[in-house]
Amino acid sequence: MRTLLLASALCAGLFGPVAGVPPPEPAPSPYRAFCRTLWLFASPCVDVSTELVAQIQALSPYQLVSVNPVYIAANHTSALRPLGEDLTFSLSPTVLTAGCRVTAMSNSIGFTSLLDGGLNYCNLYELLSASGLSSAPGFMEMTNEWACLGKGLATCVKKH
Ligand SMILES: *[C@@H]1O[C@H](CO)[C@@H](O)[C@H](O)[C@H]1NC(C)=O
Repeated sequence: MRTLLLASALCAGLFGPVAGVPPPEPAPSPYRAFCRTLWLFASPCVDVSTELVAQIQALSPYQLVSVNPVYIAANHTSALRPLGEDLTFSLSPTVLTAGCRVTAMSNSIGFTSLLDGGLNYCNLYELLSASGLSSAPGFMEMTNEWACLGKGLATCVKKH
């Protein structure tokens, strides 16, 4: 378990803020299930953001909390997990390719098993696939089991 938490912390560091710079948001707690993943698109961030926001508003388990040109916050709840999960998307343009890089995160609120059966991964994946962004030009996902616990076990069932 120690090794798992350490590896998870090290890996989160790859995506996270540089040491010494105050973090813009709290890092995911190692005691709560989370998924952190990086998406690359060939389309501009404004298009990616429009699609994500439209899907958050279209799918009932999701609620939009706030949106601005570089950041989207939402949540996801279900009858089984009324506390739900927080979702955030940080968007930044990729200068050379005029594309968009998105750091997407889903964090369980409240204490859960670290292994969430892919729940947090599926929260993100569902928006990605329902919006069609997973087949958008240049789409690429970078994550792994340490940044996105349960990804390998996830079987995301389409609920919509
Ligand atoms: C989800 O976000 C909406 C909109 O901000 C808010 O009203 C609701 O209380 C949030 N739900 C949870 C469980 O945090």
